[in-house]
Amino acid sequence: MKLVVGTRNAHKIAELTEILTPVLGGLELEPATGEAPEEDGTTFYANALIKARAAFSESGRPSIADDSGIEVRALGGEPGVRSARYAASGLDEDNTALLLTNLEGIEDRQAEFVCAAAYVTARGEYVIERRWEGTISQTPSGGGGFGYDPIFVPHGSSVTAAQMEPREKNEASHRGQAFRALAELIATLPTQ
Ligand code: IMP
Repeated sequence: MKLVVGTRNAHKIAELTEILTPVLGGLELEPATGEAPEEDGTTFYANALIKARAAFSESGRPSIADDSGIEVRALGGEPGVRSARYAASGLDEDNTALLLTNLEGIEDRQAEFVCAAAYVTARGEYVIERRWEGTISQTPSGGGGFGYDPIFVPHGSSVTAAQMEPREKNEASHRGQAFRALAELIATLPTQ
């Protein structure tokens, strides 16, 4: 099975390959080539659909995409859908540094990663959303993963997501949960 992926983020494509291949044997993922659509939705759900629809309309082939981010309770759910562009530069180090600054002196460090996974074909549109709960650490640790991984300690773990093996992260993560559920659903649908 071939799926077009509406993302330009190489880390996400690597994670998706590892998550989806066990469920959808013989899967080939192809990155979308057109211009990235404007993510102007106010929810993860809406933005995931925008990206999967754009990949489908450009390629004419079954397409998947995700929209994800981190919601921090003490910041009223910020950065949320703005996670990738929280700091002006949009660089991972600057985003995480800004989040740590905004949490300085705040005791409540509860946070959740959220992922909406979308699948768009000529036959229909499907979106599945999943969450991964944890806390924000005081300082970054670990060199794996991407984004906010170095400051996110999942519930039940003593290390950050950036200190986990990729397989361990994917088993528990918001993206792992959402795309495994989506892959199981895709496997029940007629071949496009
Ligand atoms: P998107 O590409 O528009 O979905 O932006 C997602 C942003 O949320 C990323 O750039 C990261 O900053 C953050 N994010 C989403 N998922 C993860 C994850 O698994 N680990 C760390 N950061 C993440």
